[in-house]
Amino acid sequence: MSFPQRRLRRLRRTPTLRRLVAETRLSVDDLVAPLFVREGIDEPQPIASIPGVVQHTLRSLQAEVRYLAELGVPGVILFGVPATKDDRGSAAWDPDGIVQVALRELRDDLGDRVVLMADLCLDEYTSHGHCGLLTDDGEVDNDRTLELYAEVALAQAEAGADIVAPSGMMDGAVLAIREALDDDGHENVAIMAYAAKYASALYGPFRDAVDVTIVGGGDRKGYQQDPANAREALEEIRLDLGEGADIVMVKPALAYLDVIARARPEVDVPMAAYHVSGEYAMVKAAAERGWIDGLAVGIEHLVSIRRAGADIVLTYLAGEVAEVLNG
Ligand code: PBG
Repeated sequence: MSFPQRRLRRLRRTPTLRRLVAETRLSVDDLVAPLFVREGIDEPQPIASIPGVVQHTLRSLQAEVRYLAELGVPGVILFGVPATKDDRGSAAWDPDGIVQVALRELRDDLGDRVVLMADLCLDEYTSHGHCGLLTDDGEVDNDRTLELYAEVALAQAEAGADIVAPSGMMDGAVLAIREALDDDGHENVAIMAYAAKYASALYGPFRDAVDVTIVGGGDRKGYQQDPANAREALEEIRLDLGEGADIVMVKPALAYLDVIARARPEVDVPMAAYHVSGEYAMVKAAAERGWIDGLAVGIEHLVSIRRAGADIVLTYLAGEVAEVLNG
């Protein structure tokens, strides 16, 4: 066979040729590590359904973030597990709440070497496990929840967050948070909106990590997106951009690559995607059984997420993949 039939395989012949013509690059610079910090424990607690990930103590968190910084991972996103939960989730905005303490310590320790992000939600802090305040008949009250999100944003900003990341899918959250931050002199704190967040069964392991059970066997289908809808995701993203989001996220990632790809040409700010706990757990479980090469599959996942159009990938694989990428 001659030209043009031989054209494509010719450039796949050696690793160096493949590297030269790669359309998509995965770099340590793209990665953000999600980290859990739990109040009132002396030793890190393993999370069975997210193997290799732990609920950190403040001390082990500091060591982990130093290690990630050393590897060149540019960002971490913190999730808190409070010692006590209540119906309003008040530990989320307590200046001495676990995430606020962790942010202050990490900022003191590392200065600007790592971008400090804070997940901004109430579900880890509420006794009922919902992402907002409940009305008397058990609905999540959108507008009253926004007032609390503003409080959480201020507490996280005061404590040193570079970026706050509202993940509760309340309408108007980005605007409420932006106004609260600006009114309080935190114009430089950025907002990464979980803009297109689906009501996914892939968050199961995460709920173990943060000790969340939704009251009465409930779910989040009343506020997170229906997996059937992709056009609606574009509407969510447009609204969040209009409200002042600096970065928009699609979550989960792999099951929603079409959403990432459709959003990409519409969005000129950085786009993030979250390779969530269930996506990670599937890779680890199959690898543990020797059924797949976990690291290879993990990297394939992350490359695919980048290929679909995400600039930033939140992933529990950040540390181990950074080790590989650094050689
Ligand atoms: C809400 C939040 C969730 C995740 C990130 N932020 C859980 C939920 O919406 O139920 C899931 C992350 C993962 O599964 O890795 N605070």
